[in-house]
Amino acid sequence: MGLNPPRPALKQMRGLGVKDNTMDIAQKIIEAHKLKFDSQPPLQQCSVSRCTFSRIWAMPDRWTFKIQPIKELLYRFCSDGKGWIDPFGGENSPAEITNDINPERPTKFHMDALDFLRQQPDNSANGVLFDPPYSFTQAKECYDSFGKDLFIEHDKIPTKMDYWASCKKEIARIVKTGGLVICFGWNSNGIGHNRGFEMLEVMLLPHGGSKNDTIVTVERKFTYQLDFGQHSG
Ligand SMILES: C[S@@+](CC[C@H](N)C(=O)[O-])C[C@H]1O[C@@H](n2cnc3c(N)ncnc32)[C@H](O)[C@@H]1O
Repeated sequence: MGLNPPRPALKQMRGLGVKDNTMDIAQKIIEAHKLKFDSQPPLQQCSVSRCTFSRIWAMPDRWTFKIQPIKELLYRFCSDGKGWIDPFGGENSPAEITNDINPERPTKFHMDALDFLRQQPDNSANGVLFDPPYSFTQAKECYDSFGKDLFIEHDKIPTKMDYWASCKKEIARIVKTGGLVICFGWNSNGIGHNRGFEMLEVMLLPHGGSKNDTIVTVERKFTYQLDFGQHSG
């Protein structure tokens, strides 16, 4: 078997949950492939990232950066916040350059996050913190409370997915090579391979009951050139 496993193998790997990026799942895929094809699947083609994975129960908090394991993670990666940008700064951002659409938040700028990101120069940030509202309803509520409408404000952005994708595209442009992006939300997509980032760490924070986990991803901008056509994420 060469470098290209046949399509059914790739399908099977995706069916096994490759996108979760955990060591466990990666191992299962590799074993399944070995059983079927008697060879190791090439990791890049399977979209498998080897990264640190942790799952820690934590008290929920309206302000993400007050959640204890997140405080510790921020201390590890972004302790002085120098050269870091936070477009959805809220109350507790350690970043040097902060923004929040709500003028009552203690941030340096009070703009729409996408407009704010578009003003930042290429390859200028040591890192970006990306902690937006976690659902479209939350995002829209926030806009509505300032008398704006997401669709009117961004008339070239017809769907919510486009809004987040546009933010991510800007973040990928702004971060220096080798710089970091830490994302918070209900999924582990992060900025993604397609935009030139590799996953370093995934942290799951279950809060008990029927609450959603908070999911944190830490990614680094590649220091090498990638063929962007071949990857998902
Ligand atoms: C999840 S909170 C961030 C909390 C922050 N990380 C903390 O722990 O203090 C999201 C923040 O984004 C702001 N926000 C919502 N929509 C925005 C937009 N389109 N542009 C800029 N800020 C926005 C809200 O006002 C809110 O403070």
